Amino acid sequence: MSVSVMDITVHKVEKSRINQLDPSNIQFGKLYADHMLVAHYENGEWLPAEIVPFGDLSLSPATTFMHYGQAIFEGVKAYKDAEGNATIFRPYDNWRRFNRSAVRMAMPEIPEELFVEGMRQLVDLDRNWIPTGENTSLYLRPFMIATDEFIGVKPAEKFTFLIITSPAGPYYSKPVSIYIQDRYVRAFPGGIGFTKAAGNYGASMYPTQEIRKMGYDQILWTDGLHHKYVQEIGTMNVFFVIGDKVITPETSETILEGVTRDSAIKVMREKGITVEERPLSIDEIVEAYKNGQLREAFGTGTAASISNIAELTYHDLKMQLPPVETWEVANWLKQELNDIRYGRKEDTHGWNLHV
Ligand code: COI
Repeated sequence: MSVSVMDITVHKVEKSRINQLDPSNIQFGKLYADHMLVAHYENGEWLPAEIVPFGDLSLSPATTFMHYGQAIFEGVKAYKDAEGNATIFRPYDNWRRFNRSAVRMAMPEIPEELFVEGMRQLVDLDRNWIPTGENTSLYLRPFMIATDEFIGVKPAEKFTFLIITSPAGPYYSKPVSIYIQDRYVRAFPGGIGFTKAAGNYGASMYPTQEIRKMGYDQILWTDGLHHKYVQEIGTMNVFFVIGDKVITPETSETILEGVTRDSAIKVMREKGITVEERPLSIDEIVEAYKNGQLREAFGTGTAASISNIAELTYHDLKMQLPPVETWEVANWLKQELNDIRYGRKEDTHGWNLHV
């Protein structure tokens, strides 16, 4: 892997579009910052990256990823502290996960400097686009697509890596309503559930559309074999506060290793909270609910941050959680992680990369 960051060429926009950003009304994924990073992979190596104005790609209709889904992505966030310093939260962890996805999808791994230093330079250039309000950030979306012009089915030989960025507010504007799914399957052992492959999200669209029509926001997926154990929400990992313990399914081939999940577990354990990573059955959740022990439930994710769950529905049983204002763990956790991200609390883990 011979790419040098020194080789990144930068073509700046003639005129910034920053006046399109209304800090009081930021919607997730609607507006993109001025620049994007693009790098191509050909003949077994990554070519020097470019930072160019955000804009359309020109691709043959025969491009591999459009047909067979050889495509992966990541979600990362950049923040600004009170003095205006910019940081990126745990980008090395996203880089490592990106490469795990790449290997499983027969795509080339990305050199660390291309992913992390490329991202740092991009954020540096578009630092004016990082919003400063509480729960806002610049969402960074690295992704890779297979770009052979060939519709035969085989692993591609040409790829493009891009990073686009978008100012973001809260992904969910209120506590979410969750439907526990036991008809469709998100992931199966031996499959790609642990990756951020585009197809994982594509396959969730139809079941999600169905539950939206029923008035729910998101699906809590269960294991594909028996539909007995909960896995993840698809946009988030999931945590339950049962009695005085926090329980989350352990990561596996079928569950994404969330960076926010890991951050949450670490800070909760440091606080002395018992966190168990283990199989968690629907029966155990229902029993805890009926015994009055199901105190809180929340999702964690880069886009979602910490998102409280208002209610969970399983078949005919609607499990209404106590009012979120009374929750002790999730509300504290959200504040704690925000304090680290916005530089209000010492970053003892070295999670913030200074831009
Ligand atoms: C993220 O949290 O960054 C995700 O990728 C989840 C979703 C927005 C697709």
